Amino acid sequence: MPTIVFHLHGKSALTHGVSIDVQPDSTLSTLHDLQKTVADKLSIALPSSISFHASADEDTTTRDLKLLETVEAIVKEGRVAVLVSGKKVHPVPGPTGGLPFIGGYSEIYPDFIGNYHRLFRKYGHVVHVWYLGKSIYLTDDPDCAGVVLKESEYFTKKIDENSPLAPFKLSGFGKGIFTSDSDDWEWAEGHKFMMTAMGAKAMRGYVRIMDHSAKRLIKCFDDMHAKGKSFDAFSWGMRGAAQTIGEVLIGVDLKMLENAESPIADVFHLLARNLTLAQTLVRRGRLYRALPNPEDRAKRATEREIDSWIEVQKANVIETGCSQDMPLQEAAVNTSSVLDYMLHATDEDGKKMNLNLVNSNILTFLGAGQVTSSSVLSWLWFCLATFPAKARKLHASLVAAGLSPEKEITAEQLGKLEYLDWFVKEGQRLYNPAFQPTRQARKDVILPGGLFIPKDAQVTVSLHALMVNSEHWKDPLVFNPDRWGTEEVKKRHKYAYLPFATGARGCIGFNFALQEIKVILTRVVLNFQIENTTEGAVIYDPNFIVFKPLNFSMKLHKQIPISEVKFDDLADNHVEEKLTAPQPTVGTGSLPRFWAIHASNTGSCEGMAGDAAAKARQLGFSDVKVVSLADSPLADREQTAAVAAQPNFFLICVATYNGEPPDSALGFADELDAEMKALKGDGEGTRFAGINFCVFGAGNTEWGATYQLFPNKVDSAMAALGGNRIFPKGSGDANADQDGDFTEWSTKLWAATAASIGLDVSKSSGSTEQNLLASTSSYTAQSVKVIFQPPTSPVCPAAPPSQPPVTEFAQATVKSNIELVDADSPMPRSMRLIELEIPQGLVYREGDHLEVFPENDPAVVERLLASLDFVADAVFKVVEVDASVNPRSLAATLLDRQVTLRELLTYHADLSGPLQRSVLLMISSFVPEDDKFADLRQTLRRAGEVVDSAEETFFKQNRNFAQLIINHPILAQAFDLPKLLVVLRNNQPRRYSIASSPLVDPRVAKLCVGVEDSRVGDFEGLCSGFLKRTEVGHGVWVKHCSSGEFFHLPEDPTIPVTMVGAGTGIAPFLGFMEHRRAQGIKTQEAGGIAPFRLLYGTSHHDMDALKSLVHSYIDDGTLILDAVYSADHSARRFAQQLVIRYGVKIWDDLSNNNGRVFVCGSAARVGAGVRNSLAKIGEQVGGLSDAQGWVGELKKAGKYTEDIFG
Ligand SMILES: Cc1cc2nc3c(=O)[nH]c(=O)nc-3n(C[C@H](O)[C@H](O)[C@H](O)COP(=O)(O)OP(=O)(O)OC[C@H]3O[C@@H](n4cnc5c(N)ncnc54)[C@H](O)[C@@H]3O)c2cc1C
Ligand code: HEM
Ligand SMILES: Cc1cc2nc3c(=O)[nH]c(=O)nc-3n(C[C@H](O)[C@H](O)[C@H](O)COP(=O)(O)O)c2cc1C
Repeated sequence: MPTIVFHLHGKSALTHGVSIDVQPDSTLSTLHDLQKTVADKLSIALPSSISFHASADEDTTTRDLKLLETVEAIVKEGRVAVLVSGKKVHPVPGPTGGLPFIGGYSEIYPDFIGNYHRLFRKYGHVVHVWYLGKSIYLTDDPDCAGVVLKESEYFTKKIDENSPLAPFKLSGFGKGIFTSDSDDWEWAEGHKFMMTAMGAKAMRGYVRIMDHSAKRLIKCFDDMHAKGKSFDAFSWGMRGAAQTIGEVLIGVDLKMLENAESPIADVFHLLARNLTLAQTLVRRGRLYRALPNPEDRAKRATEREIDSWIEVQKANVIETGCSQDMPLQEAAVNTSSVLDYMLHATDEDGKKMNLNLVNSNILTFLGAGQVTSSSVLSWLWFCLATFPAKARKLHASLVAAGLSPEKEITAEQLGKLEYLDWFVKEGQRLYNPAFQPTRQARKDVILPGGLFIPKDAQVTVSLHALMVNSEHWKDPLVFNPDRWGTEEVKKRHKYAYLPFATGARGCIGFNFALQEIKVILTRVVLNFQIENTTEGAVIYDPNFIVFKPLNFSMKLHKQIPISEVKFDDLADNHVEEKLTAPQPTVGTGSLPRFWAIHASNTGSCEGMAGDAAAKARQLGFSDVKVVSLADSPLADREQTAAVAAQPNFFLICVATYNGEPPDSALGFADELDAEMKALKGDGEGTRFAGINFCVFGAGNTEWGATYQLFPNKVDSAMAALGGNRIFPKGSGDANADQDGDFTEWSTKLWAATAASIGLDVSKSSGSTEQNLLASTSSYTAQSVKVIFQPPTSPVCPAAPPSQPPVTEFAQATVKSNIELVDADSPMPRSMRLIELEIPQGLVYREGDHLEVFPENDPAVVERLLASLDFVADAVFKVVEVDASVNPRSLAATLLDRQVTLRELLTYHADLSGPLQRSVLLMISSFVPEDDKFADLRQTLRRAGEVVDSAEETFFKQNRNFAQLIINHPILAQAFDLPKLLVVLRNNQPRRYSIASSPLVDPRVAKLCVGVEDSRVGDFEGLCSGFLKRTEVGHGVWVKHCSSGEFFHLPEDPTIPVTMVGAGTGIAPFLGFMEHRRAQGIKTQEAGGIAPFRLLYGTSHHDMDALKSLVHSYIDDGTLILDAVYSADHSARRFAQQLVIRYGVKIWDDLSNNNGRVFVCGSAARVGAGVRNSLAKIGEQVGGLSDAQGWVGELKKAGKYTEDIFG
C-alpha cells in the first residue's frame, strides 16, 4: 500500500508532513475520505476545504500548483501538498497599529457593530485584533462560524478571564448553563434537564401564559395611548419579557404590567447590580479580586438578597406546585413552572437535578430570557415604525389568519403565521440582540480560508456581520421580510443566519423566545400602529450586554378597524421594497463634566492633564476644565459638594518632591491629613462623596522610598473620604518613559470607563475607523495647517530668536565659562562654572534656582537640515491645529508663531530626549506604503508596540529623534512640515541651583553645571552640553525660580550651618560661601560665633579650579571643609559618612543651638543617605526611639533642608 506524505504547502514535508497509507480500494478510497483523514491529521477544521496538489517548492504560487483531482492521481505522487480553500495556510490578518498593549482598542470599542463590519471589509472574513491585552479573532464567514460554534475537538465554550462572558461567570449566573464551560459537569447536567423544559412540546403549554402577559401589556399601552404619551420602547419591552419569563419560570406574577406606572420588579434591579459589580471586578483584575474590596462585599450582599428571593420562590413552588417527582418529558408538560420542573423532574437514572444548580440556573434563565427578548421586541417595534407598509402587511396577514384583539392566540395559529415569522426573522437578521458568541480553540487549528488559529485563541462570531454578509445576502441592509419566501434564502448557507448561534451551546431558549416575541408582537400589531418619536437618530448602547436601542422613544396610535384592512397589502406594494434598515451607531447620554487637575512643579503633570483634557474633548466631552489642584473645586469643601451633585469625572495628575507634595498642593495635603485624622478607625468619610476620580502619579524611581508618595496619598485618602475611585491609580517614572506610561494608563482608563460614562465616538471623529485613542491614526492631512510667509526682516540664519522660546523667559548673557575639572582627570564628567549677566528685573536669593532653556547642538541641527528636504530659513506659521494633535507637540505649542525650520530645530524641538513609543507608531504610520520602506515601517511599529530584546537594541541605537533620522536618512521622506511638527515635542527647560550670592553683584548669577558628558557612552546631556559650549557673549534664555522657604542661609550668625553636598551638589553652597563672605561672617573655627562647615563628597581629587575656589573661603575663615573621594576606596567615601563623623557636633547644633543642615546633590547619591545618617545620629547620640520621626520634624521646622536633583 503506498504511503503518501501530505504536507501543508509552504511547510516542509520532512518536518511537518504526515504519512498516510492510501490505496484506491481501501477505506480511504474516495477523495472525500482522504480529505477527512488529512484534515484530522493536519488539524484542518473543515475537510471539504482541502485540495490536493503535486508537492512543489514553497515559493511556488498556489496558481502554479498542479491540482490532483483523484485518489489515483494522488497515489502516483510520493508527496502531496495541501491547500485550504485554495490557499496556503497563513496567519489571520488584522490591524497592527494602535498603542502598545492597548492594541486595537478603538478598532473595536465602543462601536462594536460598526467596527466589526469595517474590520471585515478591510482585512477579510477572519480578523485578528489585539484589544486591551486580549487577543481576539473575529469572523463573519458562515463556514468558519459553523466550525467555531459547534462543540468539537477544535472548539469549545470555555470562559476564561479574557472571554466577553467573564463578568457573567463571576455574577450570580456562576455555574448556570450559560456560563459553565462545556467540559464542566454542571453544564452537562443543567443542559440535560433544561433542554427538555425548553423543548417545543413544553412551550406549547406556555402560550396561554404568554398571551395573558401580552394582553396585560396592551392594557398598559392603552393607558399610555389615552394619555398620548411617548415612552421608552426598551423599558416596556423589558416589562413584557420579564413578566412573561417570571410567570413561566417561577409561576409568579411580578406585577410589572398592572398599569402604565408599574415598576420593574426588584429582582431584575438586583440582577443588574450584581452584573455591574461583577463587570467592575473583572475589569480590575485578579489581584484586586484576591484582596478584600468593596465591590466584592457589595456583590456578595446582592447575591444574598437574590438567594433569599429564590428561596422564597422555591418555598412557594413546593407548597403550590407539583407534589411528586416524574421523568423529564412528563415533568415538562405537567409541572406548573420551570422551577417546579427543576424540583421534580428525574433523569433516566431516577436522579433529580443537583440542588446546587437550581439557583444559578433560575438566575440564568431570568437574565437570558429577559434582556434578549426585550431587545428583539423593541427593535421589532422600531421596524414597525420605520417600515409602515410592512407593518400594514403584517397586520393584514394576522387579520387574514382570523386573529383579532379579542380572541386568544393558540400555538397552532402561531405556527401558521408565515409573514409574522418572516418579519421576526428579518428583524433579528438586522437587529439581533446577541452579537458575539465566542469559543475557544482547544488546539492549533486551520479554519476555512487557510487561516491559522492558535490553541487557546478566543474566536468570536460576529452575528450581525454574518447575517448581512453580502456574499450570502442580496441587498443585505434592505428590510425585506419577503426575502424569506424566496428560493434563494431557503437555499442559503446553513450558517449564514445564526441569531441563536448553533451547536450544543446554541440558545436553549429559542423556542421560548420566538413564541413569546410572536405573541407579544401579534398583540401589539392587532391593537396599535407605532410612531417613532425619538429625537435624532436611534442609537445603541455599547455598555449593555446585548445590542439594544438606547433612546428609541415610541408613541402609539390605534390600529385601523378590521373592516378597513386592505388585503391587497398582502400582495406587497413594493413601495418600501428597497428601504434600507437604519444602522444605529453607538451612542450615549450626556457626558459628565471633566476636570483635568494637576499639581506640578516643573510642568509634567500640567502637561499630562492638558493631554487628558484634549483627549476628553476629542472623545466628545463638552465641559472640560484644566486647573491646578489648589484652584480646583477639590480644594474647597463647599465647591466639592456642589460639583459632586452633578455628574463629574476628575482625572488628577500629581507629583512628589522629596517625599512632599508639589508647592501648589501643600494646602490640599494638609487638609487631607486633617480629614484623615478626623476619620476614626475604618469609618467612612464623606468629604469626597459623589466625586468620581482617578489619580496618575508622576515620580522618579531614583527617589526610592518616596517614589509616588504623594500621588499614593491622594489616591488612598480620596477613596477613604468617600470618593469613587473609577480606575486604579497609574504611575509614571520620569527616569524612564513617563509620557509613555501616562498614555498607556490613560488609554486603559478610557477603555474601562467609556462604557460606564457613555462615549459617543461618532461625534469625535470624521471617520469612525480612526483610532481615537492612539494619535497615530487620528492624524489627517487636515489636522495641521501651515502657511509660509515672507520674512519681516532679512533672514540671518545664525541670529537667536528675538522672542523667548516660551513665555516668561528672558535673555541672560554669558560672562565667563570655566572648567572646574582638570583636563587629565579620570573623572567621567566635566563641571563648569558659568557666570551669567542676568536680565533686568530678575531678583534672586542665595539658594534659589534658574531655569535654562537649552539649545540643540548646531552640528546635529545641520545634519538634520541636510536630511530633511525643506528650505531651512523659509518663514512659516502654524495657523490651525485640530483636536487630534497632541497639545505638547510643536504643532500645538508653536500655533500662530512665525519661525524658520532652522530656528525650530535649534530652539524649540526636543531632538535629544528618548523616543516615545507613541511617536514611533505615529512615524511608522507616516512611512510611505512602498516596498522599500516595508522593513523600516515594521521595525518602527515593533519598537512602538512590543517590549522585547530586539526593541531594546533599537532604542539603544536610536536613542532620540535626531539619531533616528541620522541612522535612517530615508525616513526623512516620511515627513512633510505638518507631520514633522506633529511628531516633535517641544524642548523643556532645566533647573540649576544658583552658585552665587546677589550680595556680591545682583546682576550676576553663577551656575555650577555637571555635564552629562559624551565621554560616558556617546550621549551628551542636552542642556548641560549646551551650557558647556556657550561662549562669552552668548545669549541664554533663563527664568528665576524660588527654592522655597527654607533653602536659604539663616540671617542670624549664631546659628550653626552644616552643608552636605556631593558632586555638582556643591552648586548652591558656592553661593552660600559668597554670601557669608559678603556678609563678613566667619566660621566658629576662625573666630566666628557658629560653625559654617561643608561636608563634601566627590569622585576624584583632580579639580584644581574648584579646589582653589573653595580653599579661598577656607583661607579667609569663612568655611571649614571636610571632603571625601569615592574613588579612594578608603573607609569613608561618601558625604553621608562624613555626617556620621560629625554626629556629636551636628546633634548638639540641632538640638541645642537651633542649627541647620542643608543637603544638595543627586537623589541617588545623597538624599536618602544623609537622612539615614541623621537618623543614626538621633538614635545613637540622642538616644531617640523614633529617630526617623525626629528627622521628619527637623524637616518640617526647616532645620533640615534638601535641594535634590534627579
Ligand atoms: C532643583 C534642581 C536643581 C538642579 N541644580 C543643578 C545644578 O546646580 N547643577 C547641575 O549640573 N544640575 C542641576 N540640576 C539638574 C539639571 O536640571 C539637569 O537635569 C541636568 O543638567 C541634566 O540635564 P541635561 O539637559 O544636560 O541632560 P538631559 O538631556 O536631560 O539627560 C539627562 C539624563 O537623561 C537620560 N537621557 C536623556 N535623553 C536620553 C535619550 N535620548 N536616551 C537615553 N537616555 C537619555 C540620560 O541618562 C541623561 O544622563 C538640578 C535639577 C533640579 C531639579
Ligand atoms: C431572541 C431572543 C434570544 C436570542 C437572540 C438568544 C441568543 C442566544 C445566543 C446567541 C446564545 C449563545 C451564546 C454564546 O454562545 O455565548 C444563547 C444562549 C443561551 N440562551 Fe438565548 N437567546 C434568546 C432568548 C433566550 C431566552 C428567552 C432564554 C431563556 C428562556 C435563553 C436562554 C439561553 C441560555 C440558557 C443559553 C446558554 C445555553 C448554553 O450555553 O448551553 N435565551 N442565546
Ligand atoms: C527636587 C526633586 C525631588 C523629587 N522628589 C521625588 C520624590 O520624592 N519621589 C518621587 O517619586 N519623585 C520625585 N521627583 C521626581 C518628580 O516627581 C518627577 O520628575 C515628576 O515628573 C515631576 O512632575 P512635575 O513636572 O509635574 O512637577 C523629584 C524631582 C525633583 C526635581
